[in-house]
Amino acid sequence: MAIRQVREIGDDILTKQCKEVPKMTLRTKILIADMLETMYEYHGVGLAAPQVGVLKKIVVIDVGDGPIVLINPEITETSGEQRGEEGCLSVPGKWGYVTRPDHVKVRGLDQEMNPVEIEGEGLLARAICHEIDHLSGELYVDKTEDGLHDVTYDSDEEEGQAEETEE
Ligand code: NI
Repeated sequence: MAIRQVREIGDDILTKQCKEVPKMTLRTKILIADMLETMYEYHGVGLAAPQVGVLKKIVVIDVGDGPIVLINPEITETSGEQRGEEGCLSVPGKWGYVTRPDHVKVRGLDQEMNPVEIEGEGLLARAICHEIDHLSGELYVDKTEDGLHDVTYDSDEEEGQAEETEE
C-alpha cells in the first residue's frame, strides 16, 4: 500500500465525470487500499478516486465507525436537512457551510463487488453526499452558503476541529 498524492482544486481531473467499475481487478484492489491509507494519513473522513487522479466511481469513508468502501454508488433516497461545516482534502485549509440531507440511503457494490445498501445519518450522510459529488466532478465549494473560510487552529489543540471533517 502507498499514500497517493491528493489532487487539489484547480486540477482539471476534479471536475470530470467518473466511469463505472465493471469488475474487480488487482489494480483496483490496490487503488482502494491506497485510498484508505491516504484518507487516514491526512485525517479525512472520506476520499473519492478522482482526488487521487483516478476517474473511477469509487469512494472510501470512515466517520469513526470503521471503513466503508462503495463502488458505483448511487443515492436512492434522501430526507431531512442539516446545515454544517464541510471541508475537503482537495481544498486544504478551508471550510464552508453546506446544507445536506440529514438522512440518505445509498446503493452500490462492496470490495468483493457484492451489492450493498447503506443508510447514513448526520456526518455519515454528509460524507456520502460529498464523496458521491466528487464522482461527477462536483466540489463542495460551489454549494457553500457564504463562501470559504480559513481553517484556524485552537492553540490548545494539535489539530483544528474543521480538519476532522475533511473529505
Ligand atoms: Ni472532498
